Order: sequence, then C-alpha cells, then structure tokens
Amino acid sequence: MRKRQVLKAVALVVTALTATQSIADGNTFKIGLILPMTGQQASTGRQIEAAAKLYMAQNGDTVAGKKIHLIIKDDTTIPDVSKRLAQELVVNDKVDVLAGFGITPSALATAPIATQSKTPMVVMAAATSSITQASPYIVRTSFTLAQAAVAMGDWAPKNGMKKVVTLVSDYGPGIDAEKYFVERLLFNGGQVAESLRVPMRNPDFAPFLQKVRDLKPDALFVFVPSGAGAAVMKQFLERGMDKAGIKLIGTGDVTDDDQLNDMGDGALHVVTSHHYSASHPSATNKKFVEAFQKANKGMRPNFMAVGGYDGMRVIYEALKASKGQGGGDALLAAMKGQIFESPRGPMFIDSQTRDIVQNIYLRKVQRQDGQLYNVEFDVIKDVKDPGKTK
Ligand code: PHB
Repeated sequence: MRKRQVLKAVALVVTALTATQSIADGNTFKIGLILPMTGQQASTGRQIEAAAKLYMAQNGDTVAGKKIHLIIKDDTTIPDVSKRLAQELVVNDKVDVLAGFGITPSALATAPIATQSKTPMVVMAAATSSITQASPYIVRTSFTLAQAAVAMGDWAPKNGMKKVVTLVSDYGPGIDAEKYFVERLLFNGGQVAESLRVPMRNPDFAPFLQKVRDLKPDALFVFVPSGAGAAVMKQFLERGMDKAGIKLIGTGDVTDDDQLNDMGDGALHVVTSHHYSASHPSATNKKFVEAFQKANKGMRPNFMAVGGYDGMRVIYEALKASKGQGGGDALLAAMKGQIFESPRGPMFIDSQTRDIVQNIYLRKVQRQDGQLYNVEFDVIKDVKDPGKTK
C-alpha cells in the first residue's frame, strides 16, 4: 500500500516537472483569459469559459507545434482587478495573448497593458465602440451596441413605434445604444419622449418603469448588459405595461439566450436587433449549439459564448499564420482581415479598425419546439461599427 502511494507521488512529481518543462522550453502558447467568473456579470464568464473550452476540445490543444495553455482568471467584474490580472499574466506568466473582458470598463482599464507590452488583446464580450481605439493591440470578436442599435432605430418607427422612451444602463455601451438608436429614430420621423439611464451596478428598474408607464410611449427601447434582461422583463410585465399597449424593444442583450427560455410567455413577440441568436438557422450554428449544450449540461449558448468561441478561432488562426512563431506584432497582423463563417453568420475583422463587421438580425421571440427563441426575420448584411465613421 505504502509502496503504491510512493509510486503515485513520484508519478505526480514527474508529471508536474514535465508540465513546467514544456512551459519553460518555449513550446507553449499561453492565452490569458480574463473573465467575470463571479460578480454581476458571472453569466458572461460562465458562457465564455465554456465556449473557449469547447473550441479547444473541437480543434485540439496543439497548434503549429505549440501546446495551447489557457489560463483563466476571475476579475470579479471589477476593472482594477482586470488590469492587475493582465499585468501579472504579461509579466509573470508571459502570456502570448490576452483575451476575454466581460465589461467595457475592464477592457478600457487593461488596454494600456496591451499597448505597453505589445500583447494582442482579443475583446470577446465588451461592446462600446471606443474600445478598439484604446489600444492598437485590441481586436474585437463580440459586437458594438452602435452596430446593433441602428437596426432597431430604423425598424421601430417604420413599424408603428413613433414615440419611444429609451432606458439604458448608464455607462459606455448604454450610452452608445441610446445615441445610435435615437439618431436613427429621429431620422426616420420618430420622437423621444424621454431618455432614462439606470445605474450599471445593482439597478432598481421599478421607479424608471413607473415613469415609462406614465409617459405611455408606443415603445420602450432597452439596453441592459447580459444577465439583467430577465429582471427588466419581469418588472415590465408586473406593471402590466404590455397590456397598456407599450411595446418592449431593444438590442438583443435584453432577450439574452442565457435567460430567455425562463422568461415565460410574457416575452413572446418582443422584437430586438442583434448579431447572434441560438436559433440562427445555419448548419454551422446547429452544430455549435448542439456541441455546446452537450458539453455543458444543456446550457444554451448566448452571444457572449459566440464572442468567446470566435475569439479562440481568431487566436488559433493567427498562431497558424505565424507558423507557430507568435510574437505580438505578427499575431496582431494575422488577426487583422480574418474572414470566416461563425455560428452567428459571416464575420470579418476589419484590418483598419480591428473591429468586427457582421450581419445584424431583427428577431422576434417565438416558441420553437416548446422553447423560447429569438427567431430571426430580417437581416442587415455586413454592418460596420457606425461609431467608427464619425
Ligand atoms: C459592456 O460592458 O461592454 C457590455 C456588457 C454586456 C453586454 C453588452 C456590453 O451585454
């Protein structure tokens, strides 16, 4: 018995030494994945971690002769922590790429580290337009709120919603969503009854929704970050706002696939604009959703998962293109201009802006096979970030 234990211990030490050896001898390619695994945006961390692991399971952990080492760090949804973790990952772990970033303030806080260390930083979630301008080493695989909101600003006034109240989270992505939605709404002959902003941290939607009820607009346009949509939907319905004839519209963050199926029939017919729906009808997406659910006890992938999955692909392809050599500038150059079919549809990394160009879909919540989905009914193709042309 003792002998067996000693042998086991020896085996463990040998394995540990071999692992350290392979990290030290330059055969390893390290990805530092900084995510909110706890705190307000924990669902984003959970989705992206699952997607990154799925990508590796499907595509192997050796690329161009290098062993991929994924180091996941929890920034607890606090930007200062994201920055400190990035610093440690670059200095101590010598990561080749930084990735993740669940919220805009985390991405912005980390940008200077990417610039100083010339480390490519793949933003998989955060979605304020200005992020890619914060460092020349940033590449984005998520979306921008401006990109998504413009489509709704065109659709709503042409579909009977002229008088609109906007309700957004009071920080980068919310302010972008409000600005670009309102701009298009006014251009299309609509009017803004009121623009409301709720705190990003621990918002209480009740007083704001009461105000919306009193204003009786045709529609309420909402942006809240992934994970907060169910609370908005619940309070909207509890106040009978749908019965009062107010339509709920927004970017697809509010009918997030991570929560949608639990929102109940009250969510039916809500129209949103976004870049990804789990029910996107393509063979690539069907395969992705099936594999994701199989690997994660039935969890449905949301738009955050897709940002993570495609971000891993961008990193893998860049490493291949550099023939395993890596190096910040070579990797960055190989990330620019990548074009491929994502589960969301075709996507492209604009080499000028390093931002994503993709389709934006109009979707309506419907039941399919007994479950609630954002069912796409129209598409605006190859949308660039409107926030870059100004
Ligand atoms: C962001 O902080 O940039 C962010 C977070 C969640 C979203 C969209 C944007 O759903």
